Amino acid sequence: TPQDRFATPLIAWQATHGRHDLPWQRTTDPYRVWLSEIMLQQTQVSTVLAYYERFLQRFPDVQALAAASQDDVLALWSGLGYYSRARNLHACAKAVVAEHGGEFPKTAEVLQALPGIGRSTAAAIASFCFGERVAILDGNVKRVLTRFLAFDKDLAVPRHERELWAAATELLPPTDMPAYTQGIMDLGATVCLARSPQCLLCPVQAGCEARRSGTQDKYPIKTRK
Ligand code: ADE
Repeated sequence: TPQDRFATPLIAWQATHGRHDLPWQRTTDPYRVWLSEIMLQQTQVSTVLAYYERFLQRFPDVQALAAASQDDVLALWSGLGYYSRARNLHACAKAVVAEHGGEFPKTAEVLQALPGIGRSTAAAIASFCFGERVAILDGNVKRVLTRFLAFDKDLAVPRHERELWAAATELLPPTDMPAYTQGIMDLGATVCLARSPQCLLCPVQAGCEARRSGTQDKYPIKTRK
């Protein structure tokens, strides 16, 4: 079954070969997980680490962040770049306080309505913190899944991207969502690399259609970026 070929070996691989010691993996506090996901969107883990700790010391919870001035938030973001992330971060904290009583929503659907939280970020928070069965689909995960499935449609076409979201949802395991989500992220970051994928180290190599046909380099297909 798809379960046996994908989710089950991925979850087992995450336990032995995945990353477990990052600070945002040691918590299920949605404020901390949310902050890490926003910082990690366009910034490497090694850079995020110091910013993440400093940010949490200054703003330990969503109330503290909501009460801050935009200048203070931007000052702590200085050096991370993509400053719209910081403005959305501040707006999101204010919305959580004003519209949700200071508690992060517990479903991806409601999280996704908040400023700066897209479908994949909402799913990452909901799966890590609440175990919700929802698929993530960031750049790394698109590469993993299009290769595994030999999904050869152009992701620049919205209907095709929606099809990949549906396929990602069908591959979800019945349980163990936090390990599964971290595992698919880690597989894309450390094994299923854009150039020179390390297929011999991959837990899902036996079921991977791109590996079977030697077409790893073809995926993902996306015209006109
Ligand atoms: N990039 C985005 N989310 C991440 C996570 N939870 N762990 C490591 N890298 C990530």
